[in-house]
Amino acid sequence: MANESQKTTAVQTKTKLWLDIIVFVAFLITMDPHTSGIAIHEWLSLAMIAAMTVHLLLSWDWIMEISGRFLGKLGTQNRINYILNWLLFIDGTLIMISGIMISEVALPLMGIKLPMGFAWRRLHDMSANIGLLLLGLHTALHWGWIVTAINKYLVQPIVKLFSAKQKKDAAI
Ligand code: HEM
Ligand code: HEM
Repeated sequence: MANESQKTTAVQTKTKLWLDIIVFVAFLITMDPHTSGIAIHEWLSLAMIAAMTVHLLLSWDWIMEISGRFLGKLGTQNRINYILNWLLFIDGTLIMISGIMISEVALPLMGIKLPMGFAWRRLHDMSANIGLLLLGLHTALHWGWIVTAINKYLVQPIVKLFSAKQKKDAAI
């Protein structure tokens, strides 16, 4: 039987897996505002700020640990992940700020009118494209974790469900 700490880890991993799947799909939807419509584009990406906060909180121990060890001895994989995560953070901030500056739905609805100008639109487009590239790398670097978690928490439970059903049918 699993002990208390193993249970906590399993719940945390499941939460991470579902959150990561949701933000991944949400990011792909936001990459195509003309298909989703601009209102969905804006509200969905604003909601992603909350999802990203949870994503970071769930890895807070890792962030703190690697921040402390970054200048000392650290494995290459962790070092690369750390730098890439910072690039993702900076680029994500640029996407959100430039998006808010060109907002056509969310901000006008809140009665906020921002001055146009500067190259906000170009910055938004550019940072979104860079974001897609960084997310590709982020996903590739966590591929092992993704495959293991999907297998353990999505594929295996379905397989178990069907084999239990088959046994039940055979017993009838
Ligand atoms: C947009 C969609 C994103 C997806 C689908 C995604 C996916 C993942 C996955 C699968 C993991 C490994 C398992 C886990 O700990 O959850 C992970 C870890 C992590 N992600 Fe993300 N992530 C995204 C965005 C971001 C962004 C924007 C940042 C930085 C601001 C970030 C920072 C981290 C950190 C700090 C970790 C844990 C440390 C590590 O192993 O790199 N992620 N992410
Ligand atoms: C994850 C976050 C986001 C991503 C990946 C993203 C991505 C994109 C992309 C790829 C475009 C098309 C650019 C073009 O065709 O030139 C776009 C346009 C736009 N985005 Fe975002 N965006 C995000 C967040 C936001 C936010 C937070 C807002 C405002 C609250 C926003 C408002 C807009 C607007 C107004 C447009 C112009 C749409 C049009 O062509 O009329 N975006 N975004």
